[in-house]
Amino acid sequence: MSASRVVAVLLAGGTGTRVGHELPKQLLEVAGRPVIAHALEAFQRSGAVDEIVVMMTPTHLAEVQALVAEYGFGKVTRVLPGGDTRTASTRGALEVLEGDCLVLFHDAARPFVTDRIIAECVDALRGGYRAVTTAIDSADTIVTVRDGLMTGSLDRSCLARCQTPQGFARTALVEAYSLADEDPSFTATDDASVVARYLPDEPIGVVTGDARNFKITDAVDLRIAEALSDRP
Ligand code: CTP
Ligand code: MG
Repeated sequence: MSASRVVAVLLAGGTGTRVGHELPKQLLEVAGRPVIAHALEAFQRSGAVDEIVVMMTPTHLAEVQALVAEYGFGKVTRVLPGGDTRTASTRGALEVLEGDCLVLFHDAARPFVTDRIIAECVDALRGGYRAVTTAIDSADTIVTVRDGLMTGSLDRSCLARCQTPQGFARTALVEAYSLADEDPSFTATDDASVVARYLPDEPIGVVTGDARNFKITDAVDLRIAEALSDRP
């Protein structure tokens, strides 16, 4: 069992172009609170998390600083400008973290992360995994499409849809990203995939996600979030 401290990094550096609102989607209100406040609340409440760092859209740092004070999110130690891509925001957080801490990266656009998911991610890291992702079974069949034509389908029994948090021993993720730096073809939309690709021998634990822990991506998702927030 590792005794390292646990830092949650809220990735909130995007602008929410697909939602199409003037404000970044993480600042839009669901059930009377900004989306990011729901996510922050979950990590603030979790007994498994020691510290929170927020990577925020550079033009909207002040809103998050104000919200941290208003809601009394005392675990938040830093609100920093995110990068141009999600990956750049992750890298920015890695630059300020030190030592042998455990890090959970969470999309601020997932307001309904559960206490169980956070606790199980930390348990998996304390139990010895250096990387862990949250994932949920895919109810839909996933097919390959090229030039507008379906070209095949993938075996659903070995597919899952990634959610966040994704957790890491900081040193493992730093190692994976430093190998990615040498690869001109590198792209990624999550962090566990960087470990899977560049540290292929590293086992990556899987924590069962939750349908409620979906990512607000477009305007319809905002309405779904509003409807879900009424229910336990
Ligand atoms: N994110 C980030 N830094 C970026 C881009 C995204 O920290 N430069 C964060 C987002 O704020 C979000 C999470 O990564 O919490 C998932 O990204 P996504 O759903 O793509 O959000 P946006 O990039 O804001 O949305 P869009 O792609 O529609 O513009
Ligand atoms: Mg995006």
